Amino acid sequence: MTQPIRIAITGAAGNIGYALAFRIAAGDLLGSQQPVILHLIEIPPAANALEGVVMELSDCAFPLVRNIVPSTTPEEGFRDIDIGFLVGAKPRGPDMERKDLLQDNARIFSVQGKALNAVAKRDVRVLVVGNPANTNALIASSNAPDLDPGCFSSMMRLDHNRALAQLAAKLDVHVTDLRQMIVWGNHSATQFPDIAQVLLRGRSAREAVSWDWYRDQFIPTIQQRGAAIIKARGASSAASAASAAIDAVRDWVRGTPADDWVSMAVPADGSYGIEPGIFYGYPVKCRGGKVSIVPGLSCDDFARERMRASERELREERTAIEQLLG
Ligand code: NAD
Ligand code: LMR
Repeated sequence: MTQPIRIAITGAAGNIGYALAFRIAAGDLLGSQQPVILHLIEIPPAANALEGVVMELSDCAFPLVRNIVPSTTPEEGFRDIDIGFLVGAKPRGPDMERKDLLQDNARIFSVQGKALNAVAKRDVRVLVVGNPANTNALIASSNAPDLDPGCFSSMMRLDHNRALAQLAAKLDVHVTDLRQMIVWGNHSATQFPDIAQVLLRGRSAREAVSWDWYRDQFIPTIQQRGAAIIKARGASSAASAASAAIDAVRDWVRGTPADDWVSMAVPADGSYGIEPGIFYGYPVKCRGGKVSIVPGLSCDDFARERMRASERELREERTAIEQLLG
């Protein structure tokens, strides 16, 4: 019989956590044959709400759920986990940038990095969702010196999916007709959604849209999509963020399609001139649970300038939390 996989979600009673837990329990992450044990982690003031989530999960009688482990400490919650979704953190409000959350949220990720280091499986895969996600991933990974930094990534997949959806709408095609989208850099307003490599049924999609639309509408729309959702909903994206988190970890574990890549923020290794020491959004392929940055793509001056602006912002964020790096 297939051994259950242990999956932790921090902030499990919050908006994203609530959407994520039920989709994982239903088999959307690892498929309909893979049993799971859910480790649901909250802070003590949310313990009652977490109890309610556990009651509802139990009421679903999900065939794949072998056990649910609620907890209010990361040391207990992360014990022996194979996969961790680090969601629990404060969301931004209107008129804030994600980096304004740094001082409030950063400490959470240093504590959680240390706990992962102490009790998680050595080949754990950790996706950081709580904002500012790239720098929080850096904090968590640098506080987990016994884990390979490659065990950590931060979520660019929501931006990637948004970019596919906007471009497909413009071209009046379906998202599944498009391949090779890239979102470079930070999950922030400096991110660079790049369509230079995108193929529409094998042909260049970049040539099918005007430069003005690309530069003046597409790029800012993707960069500002999170803020637009906050304005419309009065709360930040939740179901779409949970869906992107599932896409990201599913592809990490089960592999990217043979004819495509995805955007993930991973420890920069010097590729494309981005200096190591930050988590940077790259086009990646995943095979056998390992992530590799797609090498050798050509980037023109327009692209390079935007890639460097996002790198600069990540370096500034890093400087702001230097004292929390392990
Ligand atoms: P929310 O306020 O609805 O829920 C957050 C939950 O986290 C709460 O239940 C809270 O009790 C819990 N929490 C806080 N600190 C915790 C800790 N130390 N350990 C465990 N749980 C903790 O917020 P949300 O809408 O679910 O958003 C969560 C985070 O995800 C925010 O930072 C938000 O900005 C971010 N986000 C990121 C992306 C992305 O693409 N990376 C997309 C959407 C939202
Ligand atoms: C998003 O992109 O929807 C999230 O990061 C939430 C936010 O603050 O924009």
